[in-house]
Amino acid sequence: MSILIMGTGYVGITTAIMFAELGIQVTGFDSNAAKIALLNQSHLPFYERGMEPLLQRHLQEQTIRFVQDEQAAIEEHAIIFLCVGTPSNSDGSANLFAIQQASEWIGKYMREQTLVVIKSTVPVGVDERVSEWIASKQTRPIPFDVVVNPEFLREGSAVADALAPDRIVVGSDSEEAAQRLLSLYEKLDCPIIVTNPKAAIMIKYASNAFLATKISFINELARLCDGLEIDISEIAYGIGLDPRIGAMFLKAGIGYGGSCFPKDVDALLHTANSNRKSLTIIEHAAKVNRTQPLYALDVWEKVMPSAFKKATVAVLGLSFKPHTDDLREAPSLVVISELLSRQAKVRVHDPIAVLPVHFRALGVQQADTIGETLQGADAVILCTEWPEYREIDWLPMKPLLNGHIVFDGRNALDGRSLIQSGYDYYGIGSH
Ligand code: UGA
Repeated sequence: MSILIMGTGYVGITTAIMFAELGIQVTGFDSNAAKIALLNQSHLPFYERGMEPLLQRHLQEQTIRFVQDEQAAIEEHAIIFLCVGTPSNSDGSANLFAIQQASEWIGKYMREQTLVVIKSTVPVGVDERVSEWIASKQTRPIPFDVVVNPEFLREGSAVADALAPDRIVVGSDSEEAAQRLLSLYEKLDCPIIVTNPKAAIMIKYASNAFLATKISFINELARLCDGLEIDISEIAYGIGLDPRIGAMFLKAGIGYGGSCFPKDVDALLHTANSNRKSLTIIEHAAKVNRTQPLYALDVWEKVMPSAFKKATVAVLGLSFKPHTDDLREAPSLVVISELLSRQAKVRVHDPIAVLPVHFRALGVQQADTIGETLQGADAVILCTEWPEYREIDWLPMKPLLNGHIVFDGRNALDGRSLIQSGYDYYGIGSH
């Protein structure tokens, strides 16, 4: 059995590797020549822990290959996964250009009955448009099915998540098509939900919107705890022990980022607007998230001798979460911009992610080591909880620093031990 994956971004490559691990022959297609060349040299176009060796192995074993010729790729396959990007338009709606282009190519080049699987996150109703786009380019009627199969993997643990999913969701109007898709997953053991395409899509959006809301819930509560001298981490622990609430995604911080939560929340709100409904809870969750880094900076600057003006601030962590180099919607970028507008001098560090060029032009420097980053700093702000930051031995760092103030934007450091080492420590919702 052989499948075609269209789009070699995060979801596409992870899906390719997952199916190759399950013993299925995979062809990955992308119209970006540079990406295909990189992949064929066993290199990922992004950083994901543990993924490159798997890619190398499957390329060597020829269980995966990458191509740039859409016609040949489509002609050779009867099962095609759409994994292309659906970035946000300026109004929050999902940009469907790549989905439309891939669908039209499928219509143009398909030779036999084909199963088209939408794995990209698309708004409700897009499966019908995919069918129309395919049909519009067919020169003779060849039957095809379009099913929806959303992805729930997380960056940083993508392959592990894909190989041990907590559920497989299939949205299909055809039982036969759903079963054909499910046969690809037969080696995986997890609950399976077969429903209609609209419900499958809504499960995906609702999952991300719920998790985003959970984070904003704890972040908003953290703001109240700040004024009441209550530690939000204790509250999160206390409520998380109730299995109806659950402990995960209750970590207060400077907010959620990444390519999924902000984009999917916006797209869901856009769908609601288009249907003249308002999702006030989710709207508010998005607002809390937008303002969370600013809230933290407002609180923290009160303990700085002259706010952040002329202070040198060491920012630890750029990526939107650890174990990825992804900077999309990363709260660190808001923090850096805001520090600059408050006239701070900023030096940053990240084990993997690279500072965007426009910040360099504004005088922000990226140091190679944690020590260099801390050198002469008046304050430290942790934006991403990389393990290496949790492991910093702060006592020997003291002579390097000019001021001994640590702001922990992820409530990830051992505040007590920092205070014992002579630092002023401030987290989120902890004072
Ligand atoms: C998220 C979902 O967790 C996946 O299930 C989903 O498949 C994926 O989006 C997607 O739609 O493709 P991801 O964006 O990789 O995965 O990252 P998460 O681990 O969910 O973290 C998202 C953001 O929330 C990060 O910035 C993280 O720092 C933040 N976060 C997470 C918190 O601030 N507090 C928490 O308690 C948990």
